[in-house]
Amino acid sequence: MFGEKDTIQIFPYPVWLFSVDADRVETINQKANAAITQMRQAEPPGIPGAHWQSPNDLQARDEFGELVETISGATKEIFTELRIPTDAFLVTGMWINLRPPGTQHPAHTHPNNYLSGTYYVTAPSGGDAIVFRDPRVETNIISPQFSEQTELNTREIMVPVEPGMLVMFPSWLPHFVPPNQGNADRISISFNVMFESYGETISRPKWTFDQTPEES
Ligand SMILES: [Fe+2]
Repeated sequence: MFGEKDTIQIFPYPVWLFSVDADRVETINQKANAAITQMRQAEPPGIPGAHWQSPNDLQARDEFGELVETISGATKEIFTELRIPTDAFLVTGMWINLRPPGTQHPAHTHPNNYLSGTYYVTAPSGGDAIVFRDPRVETNIISPQFSEQTELNTREIMVPVEPGMLVMFPSWLPHFVPPNQGNADRISISFNVMFESYGETISRPKWTFDQTPEES
């Protein structure tokens, strides 16, 4: 009936998975764990078993220098892949999420940034995934009974994660963390990346408008 059939996927959503070098992971994790202990000791005791989040300016602190450097290296690789010829970007925010068993994080995006991501210090079995949700709400208007879930008919895709992994994605892509069903804390460090001087550079018109009168 047909010569050939091709299914092409247009406008794919990128999610980048980086495996950080083991020696770097050891340094980052050691410093992160020490910082967590120090920060939590300085705070009033929270509710036992509740989610804990650190301040959101960790990118400015010396002990997270290796992680910022790692994120910057990953961002440069992504920019090369996306054909973005600049290295003028900043890690604009960075914070730790410590999620004991049973805790989760609802769907959200990261406004006013270009890239976002998470580095995993720990990812216990049962608490080792991030789920991305298709932002095209129209795809759910007609939703037949599918015999099998595939990339072409699902609205949510679960990505398994492991300690030492760096996951990055466009900041507009909704995502959530399912409940930690493991029996240990899930510790992750989330961050945002944005172009430096966005208002002065990238947001300016891309076209040129030549008002020079023609010579007669
Ligand atoms: Fe997030």
